[in-house]
Amino acid sequence: MSITYNQTAKTFFLKTKNSSYVMKISDFDNLLHLYYGAPIPDENLDYLIQLQDRGFSPNPFEAGNNRSFSLDFLPQEFSTNENGDYRSSSIEVQNPDGSRTFSGKVTEYHIEEGKHLLETMPSLRAGSEDTVHTLTIRLTDEAAGLCADLIYSVFEEKDVITRSVLLTNSGSAPVKVGRLMSATLDFMDSDYDLIYFAGRHTMEREEIRIPVERGIHSIGSTRGTSSHQYNPSVILCTKGADEDQGKCYGFSLIYSGNFLIEAEKDQYSQLRLNAGINPKGFSYALAPGESLEAPEMVLAFTCRGLTALSHIYHDVYRENLCRSPYVKRPRPVLINSWEAAYFDFDEEKLLNIAKNAAQMGVELFVLDDGWFGKRNNDSSSLGDWTVNRAKLKHGLKGLSDQIHNMGLSFGLWIEPEMVSEDSDLYRAHPDWCLRVPGRPAVRGRYQLVLDLSRPDVCRYLADTINHLLSEARIEYIKWDMNRSLSDAWSGMLDRNSQGEVYHKYILGLYRIMDEVILTHPDVIFCGCSGGGGRYDPGMYYYQPQIWCSDNTDAISRLKIQYGTSFIYPMSALESHVSICPNHQTGRTVSLKTRGIVAMDGIFGYELDSTRLSEDEKAQCRAQVQAYKRFEDLILTGDYYRLTSPYTNPFFTAWQYVSKDKRRAVVSLVLTDKESNDAQRFVKPRGLLADAFYQVDGTDRVLSGSLLMNAGIPIPFELKEYEGIQFGLTLLEGEPR
Ligand code: DGJ
Repeated sequence: MSITYNQTAKTFFLKTKNSSYVMKISDFDNLLHLYYGAPIPDENLDYLIQLQDRGFSPNPFEAGNNRSFSLDFLPQEFSTNENGDYRSSSIEVQNPDGSRTFSGKVTEYHIEEGKHLLETMPSLRAGSEDTVHTLTIRLTDEAAGLCADLIYSVFEEKDVITRSVLLTNSGSAPVKVGRLMSATLDFMDSDYDLIYFAGRHTMEREEIRIPVERGIHSIGSTRGTSSHQYNPSVILCTKGADEDQGKCYGFSLIYSGNFLIEAEKDQYSQLRLNAGINPKGFSYALAPGESLEAPEMVLAFTCRGLTALSHIYHDVYRENLCRSPYVKRPRPVLINSWEAAYFDFDEEKLLNIAKNAAQMGVELFVLDDGWFGKRNNDSSSLGDWTVNRAKLKHGLKGLSDQIHNMGLSFGLWIEPEMVSEDSDLYRAHPDWCLRVPGRPAVRGRYQLVLDLSRPDVCRYLADTINHLLSEARIEYIKWDMNRSLSDAWSGMLDRNSQGEVYHKYILGLYRIMDEVILTHPDVIFCGCSGGGGRYDPGMYYYQPQIWCSDNTDAISRLKIQYGTSFIYPMSALESHVSICPNHQTGRTVSLKTRGIVAMDGIFGYELDSTRLSEDEKAQCRAQVQAYKRFEDLILTGDYYRLTSPYTNPFFTAWQYVSKDKRRAVVSLVLTDKESNDAQRFVKPRGLLADAFYQVDGTDRVLSGSLLMNAGIPIPFELKEYEGIQFGLTLLEGEPR
């Protein structure tokens, strides 16, 4: 049993294969956190808490004259508010009497088999092979009339524990919730580094690693989406932790909207990690009997370094999060029309691109923005999802049929959450967008945001997209979202409920996706928000692949893809070969290198194929064939970051290894070339040390241990920005 309760010690003991998590009910019924880390036996951990009278640390009434019991320093599972804990809190409420106290005491608990599923948001599911148990601990605040159910599901084999909170108003008057964190985790020590992923449009998820110092490190989003700027997944690790060793804790929030993650080192050098919906702009009116769910946090721990942590997330997200049947299935190699034509196309031009792409071995043609309404630039028509016959004379069906006749499948771009002021939809329903009464709405890329907190708008959108999918044979949808939210005011909510808009927007979006994406399991949905502005576990639940960045430059992508790989499986990441000079950076790199980098994920093209020479098309054909040979490793294998683009200025290398370790593919790009350079080596990882591998395309046979320890010399003749890629195949029998 992965969850037990020790009556004598009053401890809850959660265990996975390689981790233990221990909580305790205090003498005064507070829920304390005792331990999370490497596996330990179910011993009495009481000695860990050394009580001491600390100045200016108040004592709860029930502690009587005991001045050494204070929530100011005790490690807790769910901090109380206005009750002597001054650190970043788990909850903030406004009670009917105007007070802001929440003091939850453990009143009950139960343990059951199976995974707890959230009702309003995506969450992990147990697979048929998984042993999962769930513990619910109820914290009740009688005076406030509130109870918080802390819910823990333990994936024993996968080394994952999920946490979420269900807050219920059990009183008789409404309560305002200003903050409800999904998980608060207190560490009694704090000698950790915090790794987070920060960026901007066209340069997302750069890895930042900082020591946790006194104060609060805070990252998050207030943009309505998880954002380009910060990602809702972070890592805490011991100082020397690297890819191969060291203690690493992962925290990954299954949520696509405003989030907050805080790492606070307190006065006594203890560390609190707190994460959940961003309280900024959030205020939820909870009526009697009503409940509010906090999104699910996925916790993972390993002693074996960052690669092992990534493998935990890659596996659990592929197997237990993403609902698409494509998650481990081959996806068609695509060509996307955006950088090929932008808004400037007609049927003939598109068919020519598709025809040439077919010669390259491409399998799916994706028509990006510009096909609907009168959209010839980005200032109009969002909301009018009817085909522009001036551009596509045979309509969507006509185009799709002709594409299919070439042997390609057909995909389409949409941006359903938005509306242009110059659109029939806006003219008919000006009240359907987010806008504060009496104020003009802030525009982003000329467009306004539809109010997805409104059920009628969600209904309309689900019907519209479902209808679109019936208009033509469409095998792929790119679901884009091109601005940050603002003016979060909804005509459907009363003045006391406007603080719910951001969260209800995301819940509305999830409902639409339930109705559209989950009801079309055959269609591949690709997530996108100006590239990687909504690259989060909530979106991966619905969409097996996400357009990682609007930056298609191969050298920039080395960093973007590297940062993304820490938590998200590479099979969730769409990557394209585009034209040079690159449209975002102006950089020129070889077609070969562009191919190698785009093969680090779900492979495709985004260029005008009619402009490629015969020789270039032949190269592309070879790329598609090479990709197909190891596509299964991307979909199901283990990923290794062999070097970091931040600490190795000379080259960036990565590797896929099949789960049975019989096949691997190593890729490398030279990022800085010096004259008369040093000999450098690329060292594969994750191989069987005692087995022998053939280096594909050569007659070299080397042992796994030699490959991993001595490595392979990088050819001197390789020039800056050039790349190489080679497979390794386990040799049966004796080595030659
Ligand atoms: C932003 C996306 O990230 C691009 O790939 C493209 O689809 C444009 N939007 C179209 O407007």
